[in-house]
Amino acid sequence: MDLEERARAILPPAVFEYYRAGAGEGISRDEATAAWRDWRFLPRLFQDVSRVSTETTLFGTTIAAPVLAGPTALHTLAHPEGEVATARGVAAAGSLLVHSARAGLPVESDRWWFQAYVLRDRSLTEAQVRDAANRGARAIVLTADAPYVYRSAVPEAGAAGPDNRPPEQRQDPALGPDAVAWLAEMSGLPVLVKGVLRPEDALVSVAAGAAGVIVSNHGGRQLDRVVASAHALAAVVEAVGDRVPVLVDGGISDGADVLTALALGARAVLVGRPVLWALATGGADGVRELFDTYREDLTNTMAQAGLKSVADIDGSVVRRR
Ligand code: FNR
Repeated sequence: MDLEERARAILPPAVFEYYRAGAGEGISRDEATAAWRDWRFLPRLFQDVSRVSTETTLFGTTIAAPVLAGPTALHTLAHPEGEVATARGVAAAGSLLVHSARAGLPVESDRWWFQAYVLRDRSLTEAQVRDAANRGARAIVLTADAPYVYRSAVPEAGAAGPDNRPPEQRQDPALGPDAVAWLAEMSGLPVLVKGVLRPEDALVSVAAGAAGVIVSNHGGRQLDRVVASAHALAAVVEAVGDRVPVLVDGGISDGADVLTALALGARAVLVGRPVLWALATGGADGVRELFDTYREDLTNTMAQAGLKSVADIDGSVVRRR
C-alpha cells in the first residue's frame, strides 16, 4: 500500500487510475487481497528452519521464489525504460517476467514468457508468438478471460484503458480451446491458459493441451463481482490434480499471501499492479527490490510456519477461517 501511495504521488493521475482501475464498482479488485486473509496457518514445530529455501523450478527455469511478474500492459507509461527496466529488475531478482501482448516495448531478457491474446486477425497473433519464440520466450500464456477490452459505462470514471485499435487488432471474442494447440505447435513452447476460475475450464484447457493454468480474474478489470481468485483456487487444483501446474494471481501483497496460495496448491503466484508501482517509483532497481522483498517475506513466513522448502508446503499448512 505504501508503494501504491508513492506511485500515486509520482504518476500522472490518468496513468495511475488506468493501472489501478477495476471494472464496474471495483468490488472484485478491492476484495482480492482481503480474500487471501480468509485462511489461517497451522505452524509445524521442531523443524530445523535455520535454512529456508524458497527456490522452485517452473518449465525448466529455476526461480529464486515462486513469485513472477504477471503480464500488464504499457510499462512505458510508468517509466521511460518500460518493459526493458522491468525485465532487468525481474532477472536481477532471479524471477520471471510474463511480457504482455500489449506491452510498450519489446522485452530484452532470457527469463521471460510471452502473454498472447488471440486477435481477430490470427496472422497478427502468429507473427507476435513466432517472434517471441525466436527471441527466447520460454512459455506462452494465453489470456482467455478478456473477450473484449473492458469499457466503463461511465467513461470519466477512468476504468477504460487506452484502446482504440482497429477491429482486426482486438481480441477474438469467439476464442475456443483449439487455440492452445495452435499456439503450442507454432511456438514449440508450453502454453498456459490464464483466466481460469472454474474447474471444468481447467479440465477443458488441459484436454486441449495446456501445460499449465493460471487462476485469475484479471485483477478485477474485466468483470466486476467475479469471484476472488483466492476462493477459486482450491477447486481448480483439485480438478487438475498432478497433471499440470496451477498458478494464481490477484491481490498477492506479501509473503503470507504467497504461502497461502502455495498451501492451497498453487505452484507459483504472479503479481501485477505492485510491479507497476515499483517500476514507477524505482525503475529496474525498484522492481528488483520488490521481488527481493516478496522472497524475504516468504522466507520469514515459511520459517515461522516451520517450512524449510516449498516442497514442505501442503494443504495442512492452512485452515479456512
Ligand atoms: C493487467 N492484466 C493483464 N493481463 C493480461 O493477460 N494481459 C494484459 O495485457 C494485462 N494488462 C493489465 C494491465 C494492468 C494495468 C493491470 C493492473 C492488469 C491483468 C494481470 O495480468 C493480472 O491478472 C492482475 O493484475 C493480477 O492482479 P494484481 O496483482 O494486480 O492484484
